[in-house]
Amino acid sequence: MDRKFGNFFEKEFQNLAGAGLLRKMRTVTEMRGKTIVADGREYLAFASNNYLGLARDPRLADGAKKAIKKFGSGSTASRLVAGNLEIHDELERRTARFKNREACLVYPSGFQTNIGLFPALFGGQDIIVSDSKNHASMIAGAALSNARIEVYPHLDVEELERILGALPSRRMCAIATDSVFSMSGDVAPLDEITRLAKYHGAITMIDEAHATGVMGEGGRGCEAAFENLSEPVDIVMGTYSKALGSQGGFICGSEDLIKYLYNSSRAFLYTTGLAPAACGAAIAALDIIENDPEPLGRLRAAVSVCRAKLKENGFGLPPHETPIIPVIIGKEEEAVKVGDFLLEKGLLAPVMRYPTVERGRAMLRVSVSALHEEEDFDRLVGTLREARDRFRL
Ligand SMILES: Cc1ncc(COP(=O)(O)O)c(C=O)c1O
Repeated sequence: MDRKFGNFFEKEFQNLAGAGLLRKMRTVTEMRGKTIVADGREYLAFASNNYLGLARDPRLADGAKKAIKKFGSGSTASRLVAGNLEIHDELERRTARFKNREACLVYPSGFQTNIGLFPALFGGQDIIVSDSKNHASMIAGAALSNARIEVYPHLDVEELERILGALPSRRMCAIATDSVFSMSGDVAPLDEITRLAKYHGAITMIDEAHATGVMGEGGRGCEAAFENLSEPVDIVMGTYSKALGSQGGFICGSEDLIKYLYNSSRAFLYTTGLAPAACGAAIAALDIIENDPEPLGRLRAAVSVCRAKLKENGFGLPPHETPIIPVIIGKEEEAVKVGDFLLEKGLLAPVMRYPTVERGRAMLRVSVSALHEEEDFDRLVGTLREARDRFRL
């Protein structure tokens, strides 16, 4: 190996380790629902996005098996070549109906959806106005687009209004935001955002990765949770990889938007279609969500119990009831110590550090699932209290 190449890594690892930012992957050998076995030990996990507990539901496994039996294990080609399977069309029809939109386009992952969307639609004559805490995939997609990017402070509607009012004329202006933020669990003020978009002639795009299956009536997403949007959101992105227990991403919107994307979105055109098994599992998840209110009811009850126990014990809470509950620690090294302490006690709540969150705002990202029970939250909150005392936080 070239010496400079070798030195590069050594230095980088030293820097990362010095800043408490060197990560190591844990190998999971069993997924048992709310618990997982990793590196030979069982942990009670508050770490997945499996909000409704569907990822190990036998009905999803059946959907995947049937899809493999009919279509095989891979889509074998780009959708526009020979990989557009009937099951892709079905998943798109079902998702469009679930999100109350004319049409839908499915991508192989959520990340790929966002990096496929922005550069296809926006270019040098356009402006993207983006919340400062938007997901990395939206930031990457916007950066690839060559559009001018304006960032407004997280959830700050006044600053968003100021920015929109000061923008020069352009071809298109888009306000882009997570609807539920992946680290803080905050919900974007879609009523205010759609009002400003209408007034300033902007279009709106929301990332519903953490809202789909979770928020609003029947889990249809955050839009359904707001009664008074000035106009419907123009572009609704989401994933099958979180509450829906499968894999893949999607865009829902007008027929024209979808037709345009499948003609021009490079991350869609030049990739193999989503695997049939993932489509089959996602359709089975939609069947459950549309017909069985129980998993969502259990999730909402679990979120309330977890929040109440954290509050009773003096932990701060985000204002919105979502399954993502950050426990802010602050310094990266301290957050790692708390995360390790929880692991010692058999609990997994992942430590989030820069660059996933701001420097000095390291946290444990507690995610709640419909599979958790009251005693699980007692154990979590009790262990967090012990850590707080031990490390004098
Ligand atoms: C807000 C948000 N958007 C997009 C993605 C990417 O989705 P996927 O994991 O399906 O690639 C994530 C994943 O963590 C996310 O949190």
